[in-house]
Amino acid sequence: MDVRKAIYAGSFDPVTYGHLDIIDRSSKIFDELIVAVGDNPRKNYLFSREERVKLLRDSISSRIESAEKVKVEPFTGLLVDYAKERGVKILVRGLRAVTDFEQEFQMALANMDLAPEIETIFMLTRPRSMPISSSFIKEIAENDGDVSRYTTPMVQSALKSKYESYK
Ligand code: COA
Repeated sequence: MDVRKAIYAGSFDPVTYGHLDIIDRSSKIFDELIVAVGDNPRKNYLFSREERVKLLRDSISSRIESAEKVKVEPFTGLLVDYAKERGVKILVRGLRAVTDFEQEFQMALANMDLAPEIETIFMLTRPRSMPISSSFIKEIAENDGDVSRYTTPMVQSALKSKYESYK
């Protein structure tokens, strides 16, 4: 198994300091980390996939020490198929709290069933990232609250412009 490459997939609508913490720590473990931006068919997104990719790329280049080891790419279809295409056998997921476990457990089992050669590994988020989720940040920003503790300046201005354009 090639343990030098891993994929960290998510919808990143938008990226938060919690995601960046997982990206930072994973990029120190693996030689190459692909941050794969996909869609969960059960979710409606505020940002297009291209906008999510751009916000991630900009946030990573300004905040991640080993940014040169991290690639951000959009993907469609099954995550395990994309991993096979890229020759990657490790999927990284972040776990914030026990409430994430059920959903993560089901997703990891489904992926294991679809592609037994691909392993999912879990990384605990730092306690300060525990209350953060993308929906939570969107709700605060939509109501003109301060999200500077939770996400990067570029995401803060993207949220502001998005919600201003709806007013
Ligand atoms: N810090 C802060 N928040 C975090 C976090 C962290 N470290 N890790 C996860 N989250 C939050 C996210 O912000 C997101 O919040 P939201 O629900 O408010 O938007 C939530 O946890 C979960 O998001 P995410 O990790 O992006 O997962 P997802 O459920 O949206 O799944 C895909 C996205 C793209 C990975 C998944 O749908 C997928 O693999 N799709 C392809 C189809 C497929 O292969 N399915 C597998 C078979 S079941």
